[in-house]
Amino acid sequence: MAQNPPGDGRARPRPQARTRRALSLVTAGVLAAAGVVALAGNAQAVGALGDAAAAEGRYFGAAVAANHLGEAAYASTLDAQFDSVTPENEMKWDAVESSRNSFSFSAADRIVSHAQSKGMKVRGHTLVWHSQLPGWVSPLAATDLRSAMNNHITQVMTHYKGKIHSWDVVNEAFQDGGSGARRSSPFQDKLGNGFIEEAFRTARTVDTGAKLCYNDYDTDGQNAKSNAVYEMVKDFKQRGVPIDCVGFQSHFNSNSPVPSDFRANLQRFADLGVDVQITELDIEGSGSAQAANYTKVVDACLAVTRCTGITVWGVTDKYSWRSSGTPLLFDGDYGKKPAYDAVLAALGGSGGGGDGGGEGGGACTATYARTSAWNGGYNGQVTVRAGSSGITGWAVPVTVASPQKVSAVWNGTPTTAGEVMTVRHSWNGTLAAGASTTFGFTVQTNGGTSAPVVGACTAS
Ligand code: XIL
Repeated sequence: MAQNPPGDGRARPRPQARTRRALSLVTAGVLAAAGVVALAGNAQAVGALGDAAAAEGRYFGAAVAANHLGEAAYASTLDAQFDSVTPENEMKWDAVESSRNSFSFSAADRIVSHAQSKGMKVRGHTLVWHSQLPGWVSPLAATDLRSAMNNHITQVMTHYKGKIHSWDVVNEAFQDGGSGARRSSPFQDKLGNGFIEEAFRTARTVDTGAKLCYNDYDTDGQNAKSNAVYEMVKDFKQRGVPIDCVGFQSHFNSNSPVPSDFRANLQRFADLGVDVQITELDIEGSGSAQAANYTKVVDACLAVTRCTGITVWGVTDKYSWRSSGTPLLFDGDYGKKPAYDAVLAALGGSGGGGDGGGEGGGACTATYARTSAWNGGYNGQVTVRAGSSGITGWAVPVTVASPQKVSAVWNGTPTTAGEVMTVRHSWNGTLAAGASTTFGFTVQTNGGTSAPVVGACTAS
């Protein structure tokens, strides 16, 4: 039986993932040999979003507010799940330089030191933006404004030099709607189009180790605004203006849904020679609809080699800037939402609810991920990997508890005894040492909720 998985038109494989995954399997093997309970049925061991993203060569971050770090559940959720943070407000101009040339970094420093103590990356957000700008900036005349802007960039970037992986150098400089024009702001109105280029050139002189990003919203699909940003980035690359990345905020809701050309849009920017990052992701909604939208976004990023990471705009719905839209991965009590399970599964981690991977110590290993889900069913995928020697065949038992039923299997041949389906290789039995293949299956849940149990791989 070889069929296409319904609803799974996703771009895989992902080369970086292979290496990292192999390493994590080795680690798991060592842990298992040492008698440490590691993977099976335990989402946490491979389940943290940051770890799952790292296995795909990406980071997975959250916007963080310094004043919540003292709340135990907030900090423990952050620490268990994410490997990058963005200060939600604490690095903005009004927060760090509320009066001219007098800088206060204490709140942002708290976030940065928390992140550093946990080995997380930090995104810097943001240096030049028309919003959250203190009142003293806008009355300045052009020459003065230029020096205030360059001084602000220089002071802030110097303070955090070596600690920031990417800076949003300029935020939201383009107008909404179909004009493709620059947005009116003190910088635009007094310094003209050149302010963006100047900000990037100044930023590069301060911290050569940080990636320099342009960040905006409603640029996630192809439209007049994203076309205008695209032309700017293209021009910058052609003229050697230092830009390394473009941030796509990705604030989605029913008025602004996940665009169907999201991946294509990310790809066209990447093709200009910049990294792309999803910088402020939140998607209003709930349940499986919200989960499916999150899956689309993660899939889009994973399908674009230069999409280097995803940041969700907050840890919990409780503190979201759009709290009433419940747009995040954890609910107000820090419970994992279906959106969380969907993101983790899309990243290739074990899905929620304990559907952990099987782990054999022998000649092949099997790891499970749920790749998509809908009302009444889901697709699972098992990666079969040869150990340190090549193999010519494999078999993996998959148990799906009644009333759930497997309705399709692809890239493998099933034989079923009761609830246990043993899947053997079809055309894909021969694997060189360390090489992998996958098989997939569709489950109709019929009201059942338990995850499939994937047993150890047997090689032949
Ligand atoms: C938002 C914060 O989440 C809020 O707490 C604050 O009141 C306003 O700003 N685009 C951005 C972010 O680049 O900085 C914004 O963050 C959300 C939209």
